[in-house]
Amino acid sequence: MSNPTDDLVLSPLSTSIVGSRSFVYETIGSTNDRALDVGGDGTVIVSDTQTAGRGRRGRAWHSASGLGLWFSIAFEDSADGLAFAAPLAVRDAVRDICDVRVKWPNDLLIDGRKFCGVLVERRGGVTALGIGINVKHAAEDFPPELRDQATSLERATGQTIDRGDVLRRVLTALDERVIVIRAGGIDSVRESWAEACAIRGRTIRSDGKEGTVRDVDHDGGLLVNTQDGEIKILFGEIVEVDG
Ligand code: BTN
Repeated sequence: MSNPTDDLVLSPLSTSIVGSRSFVYETIGSTNDRALDVGGDGTVIVSDTQTAGRGRRGRAWHSASGLGLWFSIAFEDSADGLAFAAPLAVRDAVRDICDVRVKWPNDLLIDGRKFCGVLVERRGGVTALGIGINVKHAAEDFPPELRDQATSLERATGQTIDRGDVLRRVLTALDERVIVIRAGGIDSVRESWAEACAIRGRTIRSDGKEGTVRDVDHDGGLLVNTQDGEIKILFGEIVEVDG
């Protein structure tokens, strides 16, 4: 391959919203930053590597060249439901090759190891839906402290996986969910996501309190029955970005 982005081809893509235009980079700080800067409903930003990829709770996101899919989609409509749609889209995109578990709120795991994370950020009227997928990593490609917790599609399946193929499948599946959300079907997408998380009835602990998850609220928060009554644990997935 002559260029590190040769396999990150977005076409052919038969979508209505996602992929309205696209920018492919060899290297970038963070695709989320770029998506927030350029905006444009459905704009896709993908980069072979990120020098400042970030995850939730201010953590760094390891974004090595040639190994994963690091991309963001800008949306200029409501952000509601995007954080439910993204993990479902990734799960659906790879369901032919592996069994994926969605861990509340939106991590994706294979055999208990994380291979994909989602970060939704807003600035002004623009939302960046950032998705990181480990595709080609072998165990030694992860930092030592992540080796036991992280995996990639190739590590988990033993198959050779084409990054562009996964990218096109994810964007297509995401487009389908976004169309449903914009047509007023957010409840059905949230219900599919809640089922995928299989969180209802589970015992969880938060802030020293323990309880059983009764349901998922309209905003993705968990409604938990504890000894002291019902508490809500926030989804907390949408980060407001200053400036
Ligand atoms: C997490 O699980 O903590 C979320 C990880 C999100 C990583 C992706 S990679 C593409 C986009 N750009 C970023 O800087 N982060 C997201």
